[in-house]
Order: sequence, then C-alpha cells, then structure tokens
Amino acid sequence: MVTVPELIPIKPKPSDAWDVERIRKDFPVLRQTVNGKPLVYLDNGASSQVPVMVIERGAQYIAQEHSNIHRGVHYLSMKATTAYEGAREKVKRFINARDTKECIFVRGATEGINLVMHGYGRKFIGSGDEIIISAMEHHANIVPWQMLCEEKGARLRVIPMNDAGELLLDEYDALLNEKTRFVAVTQVSNALGTINPVKEIIERAHKYGVPVLIDGAQQVPHGKVDVQDLDCDFYAFSGHKMFAPTGSGVVYGRAALLEKMNPFQGGGDMIKSVTFEKTIFADLPNKFEAGTPAIASQIGLGAAIDYLNIVGHERAAAYEHELLRYATERLSAIEGVRIIGTAREKLGVLSFVIDDIHPHDIGTILDQEGIAIRAGHHCAQPVMKRFNVPATARASFAFYNTKAEVDILVNAVEKVIEVFG
Ligand SMILES: Cc1ncc(COP(=O)(O)O)c(C=O)c1O
Repeated sequence: MVTVPELIPIKPKPSDAWDVERIRKDFPVLRQTVNGKPLVYLDNGASSQVPVMVIERGAQYIAQEHSNIHRGVHYLSMKATTAYEGAREKVKRFINARDTKECIFVRGATEGINLVMHGYGRKFIGSGDEIIISAMEHHANIVPWQMLCEEKGARLRVIPMNDAGELLLDEYDALLNEKTRFVAVTQVSNALGTINPVKEIIERAHKYGVPVLIDGAQQVPHGKVDVQDLDCDFYAFSGHKMFAPTGSGVVYGRAALLEKMNPFQGGGDMIKSVTFEKTIFADLPNKFEAGTPAIASQIGLGAAIDYLNIVGHERAAAYEHELLRYATERLSAIEGVRIIGTAREKLGVLSFVIDDIHPHDIGTILDQEGIAIRAGHHCAQPVMKRFNVPATARASFAFYNTKAEVDILVNAVEKVIEVFG
C-alpha cells in the first residue's frame, strides 16, 4: 500500500513582492562565473535550472532509497515505490487530472507524444484520414505524426499563422472536416513564445469528435495547467524544463482513451501475465511504463512541483511576464534588432535576429560575456522558413532571472553590433 505525504500548498498573497534575490539562492548553478563573468542563464526554454530542494530529494533517493519499484516486498523497494507513486500523485494535482492512472511517466514531451502516436495513432488512424498540427510546432510534434502519415497513408494538415506568429483559427476551421482524426498543437511556441488559444482549439475539434493532444512543454514552467478545464485528451510535458532533472516527464491521457490504446513498449512491469501464447497487459498507468523507469528523475519532478507550490507558481508567472515585457521593450529599441514572434499573448521566450549577423555569432559573443542563450532553429525549422530566417537568437526566461540580467543582455547585444558593424 502506497501512502502519499500530504502537500501543503502555500497560497501566494497578491501583495507579496517577488523576492528574486531570495529565489536565486535556491539555484546553486547560478552562483558560478563563465568566462570570468557572472553566469546569466537565459536558456530556460531548452532546460531550466534545478533548485536545492529538488537536488536534495534526488540525492536522498540515491543515497538512502535506491532500489527498484513495484517488484520488491523489501523495505527499500517499498520506500522507492512510495516516493515514485507519490510523485505521480503530485503530478495529478499539478495538472488536475481526475486520476493518477491518467498520468503516465515518460522521459519527456518527445516520448509522451511518440507514446500517443504509437498507442493511439497506429491503432485508430488509417488511410485517407487527416491529422492537424500547427505551423509553430516543435519537431517533436511534427515528425511522429509525419511518420504515422507515411506509414498509414494519412494526410498531415497544418494550421497557418500570421506574421506576428499567431495561429489563424478561421483556417483551422476550414481544415477540420469529417476526415480529421487527430489534432496535435503546442500550447506555447518554443521558437516564438506565442500562447495559443488551446481551449478554443480543443472545443472546435471536439465538435467533430476528434481527440486533441496539447504539447505543454513550454507552458508548465510558467503556470499551472488544468487538463479538465482545457478538456484536452492528451497533454505532454518534460520535467527538465520545469526545474526537475532530465529524464522526467509526463503524458496525461483521458482514461477512456488510454484504456483503448495499444501499449507503447513491451517488457517488465507492463503486464499482468505472460505465457508464450499470450500476454495480458497491466492496468493503467503501468500498461504504458515498460521496464525500470527513471525513478530518481520522476521523484525529482515531484519535488519540483512541491517547490513551485511553495514559491507560488502564479506569482512567479506574473514576475516573468514583467521581465519579458521589459526585455522586449529594451531589445526592440536597439537599431538593427528584429523580434521574431510578436503575438499579443506571449510567454517566456524572446527570439530575435540582427541584420546580417548570424545568430551563432551572436550566441558566441554573448557566451564570452557569460550569457547563455540559444542560437539556431530551436527544433522548429518550419517556423524559421515561415519567417524567412535561417535561425534566431533566443533568450528565454525563468523566475530567477532579473532585470539587471536583461540589461547585461542588452549591453552585450549592442557590443555584438559594434563588433560586426
Ligand atoms: C514546445 C516543445 N515541445 C517539445 C519539446 C521536446 O521536449 P523534450 O526534448 O524534453 O522531449 C520541446 C523542447 O524544447 C519544446 O519546446
């Protein structure tokens, strides 16, 4: 029997100021210098940093609880199982799933989307059927569906976007029809920062009885998710973008759909019984968790959720919003800088290009100043093509970043222009 420790959420008061200096003390990695300069970490969209509370929880598992889950009757195995299933309970509350059995642990958003493609797509999508994605998807939410279309003779349809990087919902309406079998859309674009109206997108698909997967990888670090309120059918995200270790992640699925799906992988822990003639699969969620999972990482994800509850996810989001507004204002004031992605609703990400300077050169010079940003196509090559750029430089923010760091970024960008100008 697994008992789950009670979580005590600390409700933030609206009047509480965000004490960023206090928060920064929780993240040891931020204390270092890079190239002789204090590290300015603005690559949170790729991977966020890990607070002490999460590091300590992972270390405690490794030092004192390390053993395999579900299979042992001994003390350590039961302890590890309790911690692992406790993390699942925290995930359930974090995304407001109806049941823990709807929360499948995976290595990250990519694996979650692939699980749905294999488990649902390969079983229920066939020749002549259509799958709708959007023009701003990460490759993780393009390639699996493309592979499925190739295999089944299905057709991939794409919701286009305007020059600001906002999806054209009228065009979406025009794509939805009786051949549509699946919709897969990101909640927040990793390359542009656009927040998509996913609730609306889901509602419109459901009118055709079509299930919807939301890629929540860029949403979860910035605010709570309510899968029941969204009414989505699947929701995938990665732990390493929300202050947890790599190797952790979740795909939520509506129980009724998960029950009907094929398992993703076969092996230990996902079975009730095996003979050479027949295997009977385990109940949810184990049916989708073959083999030994990333136990330490998923326990770390649980601790990251505790951390977010303690600091106040909503207060953090409000602070980040102000940071993004400030950074946008300051960067766009520099002559030659062009922001890519100017949607009205944005989160966390500021992509930009500078006339005639390749983003990799921008990234290299910023690195010399101790600033970590991302330069490249951000695993979203179709977005680059849409905006007619080979790549962008991308600063992405977390609640431990400061306005002073934005100023350092702005000064360094001015230096880049000087060097190449
Ligand atoms: C929007 C989005 N979806 C999916 C992914 C893939 O996440 P992971 O590599 O953790 O599986 C990312 C990673 O950057 C992302 O930003």
